[in-house]
Amino acid sequence: MSVSKSLPHDAARLHVTGAARYVDDIPTPRGTLHLAFGLAQIACGRIAGIDLEAVRAAPGVVGVWEAKDLPSDCDCSPSAHDEPMLSGHTVNYLGQPVFLVAADSHLAARRAARLARVDYQKRDAILTVDEALAAESRFEDGPRIWARGDAGEAIDAAPNVVEGAIEMGGQEHFYLEGQAALALPQENGDMVIHASTQHPTEIQHKVAHALHLPMHGVRVETRRMGGGFGGKESQGNALAIACAVVAAATGRPVKMRYDRDDDFMITGKRHDFRIDYRVGFDDEGRISGIEFVQMTRCGWAQDLSLPVADRAMLHADNAYHLPNVRIESHRLKTNTQSATAFRGFGGPQGMLGIERVMDHVAHALGRDPLAVRRANYYAEMARGGSAPAPSAPPRSLSGKMKEDQVTPYGQPVEDFILHALTDSLAETCEYASRRKAVAAWNAANAVLKKGIALTSVKFGISFTLTHLNQAGALVHVYQDGSVQMNHGGTEMGQGLFQKVAQVAASRFGLPLEAVKITATDTGKVPNTSATAASSGSDLNGMAVMAACDTIRDRMAEHLAALHQAEARSVRFADGRVFVGEAEMSFAEAAKLCYEGRVSLSATGFYKTPKVSWDRIKGEGRPFFYFAYGASCSEVVVDTLTGEYRILRTDILHDCGRSLNPSLDIGQIEGGFVQGAGWLTTEELVWDGEGLLRTHAPSTYKIPACSDRPEVFNVALWEGENREETIYRSKAVGEPPFMHGISVLMALSDAVASCGSAYPALDAPATPERVLAAVRRVRG
Ligand code: MTE
Ligand code: MOS
Repeated sequence: MSVSKSLPHDAARLHVTGAARYVDDIPTPRGTLHLAFGLAQIACGRIAGIDLEAVRAAPGVVGVWEAKDLPSDCDCSPSAHDEPMLSGHTVNYLGQPVFLVAADSHLAARRAARLARVDYQKRDAILTVDEALAAESRFEDGPRIWARGDAGEAIDAAPNVVEGAIEMGGQEHFYLEGQAALALPQENGDMVIHASTQHPTEIQHKVAHALHLPMHGVRVETRRMGGGFGGKESQGNALAIACAVVAAATGRPVKMRYDRDDDFMITGKRHDFRIDYRVGFDDEGRISGIEFVQMTRCGWAQDLSLPVADRAMLHADNAYHLPNVRIESHRLKTNTQSATAFRGFGGPQGMLGIERVMDHVAHALGRDPLAVRRANYYAEMARGGSAPAPSAPPRSLSGKMKEDQVTPYGQPVEDFILHALTDSLAETCEYASRRKAVAAWNAANAVLKKGIALTSVKFGISFTLTHLNQAGALVHVYQDGSVQMNHGGTEMGQGLFQKVAQVAASRFGLPLEAVKITATDTGKVPNTSATAASSGSDLNGMAVMAACDTIRDRMAEHLAALHQAEARSVRFADGRVFVGEAEMSFAEAAKLCYEGRVSLSATGFYKTPKVSWDRIKGEGRPFFYFAYGASCSEVVVDTLTGEYRILRTDILHDCGRSLNPSLDIGQIEGGFVQGAGWLTTEELVWDGEGLLRTHAPSTYKIPACSDRPEVFNVALWEGENREETIYRSKAVGEPPFMHGISVLMALSDAVASCGSAYPALDAPATPERVLAAVRRVRG
C-alpha cells in the first residue's frame, strides 16, 4: 500500500534542481505582451485629472487602459462584487491599481507605469481600528455578536476578574513565487489562462465575467504554486483578468507578474486584530464568564473578511470550555490593502485572544499557565477521540459533562484528545523540570531571562460556507496500465498531489510511478472549491478514491466474467490482478478490459457529511471534526536590547492516521515557523498617510533558517480520525501554524520574570516591543 508512507514530495527533485515549472517559466509564444499596473499614491480621495501621455510614449509600450476603457467593471472580488480591477475616480488605498500598461517586456511595462501624472483630491483616510470605529466604517450593519449564557453576570459574580487587550499585527504571505498569470487567446474569443492560484474555478469565473463569456469559454490551468498560504485564493484574480482583457483586445498572449514590492503594495495580507477581553474565574483559574470584543481591519474591500472574522469567533474558545461567553466582532473598513485569507483564516487571531487570557489569568493567580489551561480544557469523552480511550476520565464529568462538550456555537466536541496529548508532550519535553530550571536560571541571571510555555491547538476542519465542502476527480486508466489522475485541488508545496496519488495507487494496488500527477484544469474537473481550509486531501482524496473504485469495480466485473470468478474476489495488489486461479499484470488487465470495451475512465465526487451552519445565528456544526496539537517553546531574552532566541520547541500534533508522515511533519515544521514569524519579527507598518513602509525583505523580516528553534522536535500523535475521512487521516495544512503561539507566550513568560506587573506583550513581539514590555514590568 502506498498510503501512510513517508514518501518525498512528488516534485522535490524538480524543486531543488530548479526544474519545476511555475507560471513565469512557461515558454511563451512570440509577441507575448507584459503588463504592469500604475498604482494610486494616496490612500483615500478622488482622481481629478490623469495624464498618461508619457506612459503611452514610453519605449516598448503597446497600450494603456483606464477603468473607462475596460470591457466591463472587471470585478475581482470573490464575494461582494466591490473590487473593480482599476480604481476609476475613487481611490480606496495607497497602492490601488489605477491604470494598466501593456508593453513588450516586463521592465518596459513597469518603467512606463511610473511616468503617469495624476492630480489627486485627497480626503482623510481611515487607517486605524479607532478611526474606523469612530467613523462607523465597517462591513455589515453592525458588529456580529454570538453569546451563550450571561457572560456579564458570570464575570460580576466571579471571585477574580481580569481585563485587558491584545493587539496582533497582520502578515504578508511572502510566497516565494509572486503572483503571476498568463493568458493565451484562442479561436472564437475563448481564453486559456495559466495562473498561480489556489482557486482556478474562481479565475475562470471572474475572467468569464470580465469578458462577457460563458464559463465554458475560459479554461484555467495550474500546475503548481511556489506557495500560496491563502494569498492566492482571491489575490490572483486581478492579474488573470488583466491578462485576459489585454489578450482579448490585442489577440496576443499576455503575461503579468508582480515584483515583490508591487505584490506588497497591491495585495491583501492577514487581518490584524485588537481583541479586548474581560474574564471572571475561580481560584483554580477556571473561567466562569468571558467577553471578547474582536476588532479587525479588513481593508477597503470585503474579499473574504466575513468568513475570516467568523472563523476568529469560532476559535475564541480554542480548547477551552467557556460556560458563559459573549463574542462581539467588528469588521472594519479601512483605506488599506484588502485583508484576505492567510493560513488559519482568522482562527489564529481568535485563538490568540483566549491564549492571552489563559496567560493573564495564570499570572494573576500566580499559577502555572499550563495548569490553568488544563483546568479549562473541554472534557475528554470516555470513548476517546482519535486517542486510545483513557482509563479514567481526567476530570470530574459529573452533571456538567454534556455541557462541557459543547462549543459556544453549539457543536459538541466529540473527539477531544488534548488531555492525553498534553500529558504526553509535557512528559517528553520535560516541561515540569525545565520550568524549574528556567526559574532557577532567572533567579541567577540579571540580564538574560528565559521563558517557557506550553500551548495547545484545537482547529475546526471544513469550510464554514457549507456548500464549498465538495470535490470532484477525473481518473483515466490507459491500456498500458498507466493511470492519469486529476482532481480539483491545487498544489502549493503542501504535498497534496503526492498524498492523493498515494490514494490512487493504493486503490489499484499499483506502485506510485504508475500514477501520473497532472495540472489542475477547469476543463477536466469543474466547479471546484479553492484549495483552502486545509481540506485539500480530505476532499480530493475522497473524490479520487471514488473515481478509482468505479474503474476498479468495472475491471473486476469484466475480468471475473472472463474467468468464471466472483467480481468480489478480484484483488488488485503489487501491480498485479488476481482473478480466481488466474493472475496477470495490471497492464494486461487494463488491456483485456479495453478489448472488452469496458470504460476505463471515471469521475469521482465527494461531499463532506454532517456539516451545517447558520452564520447569522452562530449555530450549528460548521466543522466535520477538529485537529489537535500542542507545542512547548523555550526562549531566552536579552533584557538590555529586547533581542531573543528560540532555544527549543517540541510539538506533538494530531494528523489522524497520516497519509504521509514526512509531508505532514514538513507541514508542522513550516506552519510553526510561519506562525512564530507572525508573532515575532514580521511587522507591517503603515505610516500616517496609509503608505505601507515595510514592502520588501529589507524592511519586512520573515524567519530565516537561523531563526528556527535550536532544538526542534516534532512528533505525530498516534491515533486515527474518529470520523470517516480518507484512510482516517486528518487535515494538517493550517492547524500547526498556531503552535507559534507558544513562542509569544514563552517571551511573555521571560518578560514577566523581570518584575511583578503583567507584560501584556502585543504581537509581533519585535525586540522593540519586548524591550518596552521589560521596562513596563520593571515599573
Ligand atoms: N504549505 C506550503 N508548503 N505552501 C502553502 O502555500 N498553504 C497552507 C497549507 N500549507 C501552504 C502550505 C494553507 S493556507 C492551506 S489552507 C493548506 O496548506 C492548503 O492545502 P491542503 O488543504 O492540501 O492542506
Ligand atoms: Mo488557507 S488560508 O485556507 O488558503
